[in-house]
Amino acid sequence: MSDFISSRRQRVAASLPLDDALLVVGAGRPVPLPENSDQTYPFQSNAEYFYLTELECIDGIVAYDPRDGEWLSFVPAVTEAERVWEGSVQLPGLPLADFVPWLAARAGRPVAQLGAPRPDIQIDAALNARMRDHFHHARRPKDDHELELLRAACSATSSGYAKLPQLIRPDVSERAIQIELEAEFFRAGGTRPGYSTIVGTGSNSAVLHFSPSARRTRSGDFVLVDAGAAIGRYTADVTRTYVVDQPDPFQRDLYQIVLHAQERAISRCIAGAEWTHLHLACAVEMVAGLVAMGVMRGSPTSLVEQEAHTLFFPHGIGHMVGLGVRDGSGLFPGRTKNPRPSLRTLRMDLPLEPGYVVTIEPGLYFIPPLLQDPVRRATYHDCVNWSLIDSYLHLGGVRIEDNILVTTGAPENLTAEIPKSL
Ligand code: GLY
Ligand code: MN
Repeated sequence: MSDFISSRRQRVAASLPLDDALLVVGAGRPVPLPENSDQTYPFQSNAEYFYLTELECIDGIVAYDPRDGEWLSFVPAVTEAERVWEGSVQLPGLPLADFVPWLAARAGRPVAQLGAPRPDIQIDAALNARMRDHFHHARRPKDDHELELLRAACSATSSGYAKLPQLIRPDVSERAIQIELEAEFFRAGGTRPGYSTIVGTGSNSAVLHFSPSARRTRSGDFVLVDAGAAIGRYTADVTRTYVVDQPDPFQRDLYQIVLHAQERAISRCIAGAEWTHLHLACAVEMVAGLVAMGVMRGSPTSLVEQEAHTLFFPHGIGHMVGLGVRDGSGLFPGRTKNPRPSLRTLRMDLPLEPGYVVTIEPGLYFIPPLLQDPVRRATYHDCVNWSLIDSYLHLGGVRIEDNILVTTGAPENLTAEIPKSL
């Protein structure tokens, strides 16, 4: 077993308040396609299992008994059909059939079940939730092996984005942009896109997770691209926004507000910084920019206290990234969701620590379903220049996103080489 796997297991065992409970972590099974064919969605082991094994192993189990301090990995025997159809080979580990007697020998003890659930184990939801919080927390700081993969993923992502400036011109489809970007990810060593690539042009750039369509760019469109290459299960998550031909002054101002706020937020990614504070500081800065542009009215701090920023910045400032596009996001163990509406929806609430990798991705958008909502219009009647908004309702939006490594000193931007000037 690799050194990094055994140190991860040691760290997890030391961090989980198991007392006398067993820990069982399942890899899961592939999900069949709905049409009941013999095909499945592509299989990946559950991330919690993968972290402890680095195996893609259908039905695999890794188990730990704190009484004997031993981790065991149970894997199924590869079948002839799997060898013939998939080219599968036998993975290392104990036979899966040995798991049932292992568990039976410990009957009566509580079981914390992480990863994919197993039908033969009764779930203790409260125990599982508590252990999952601690497990997430233990794996938040990236080890050297993870950072190596993440850096490679960021580098392949950077190669993809390097193709875009020459491609972004009038009459190019969102699909064409996706194809060129993803092709370059693969050429640069990416194993797959880390999540569904987002390409939104014109008003589509204000749809937060827009799926690329056949729409073709027009001069003056915003083009928002949010994509990342994955290598060995580790993904980058990067967003850049472009303008086809020249931005007009309004677009330029909007872009500069987001860029400035993003760079300030990156500089605040230091050990001990509270995520919610980062988010709110960024919101106040962007609202100050919107006030200066004449889009909003009032004191930036007071506007954010009233949650008026959510009209234009309706999502959180980012999340953890690495082993999957959300990785170990969530709450610091023991915390509960912040009751404030604009903080309750954040993907995390925790202080940053060295080794964490987070996205910083502020955005400002003109989103018709939010800006045309009569309740919001009434609530924020005096906070917004609504007649100006109406003239920009279909402008789209700007998001800028980098992946930041928190260190013991200054933050390191892992995706800094992807240009951000308009
Ligand atoms: N990259 C998409 C997201 O973070 O939601
Ligand atoms: Mn993201």
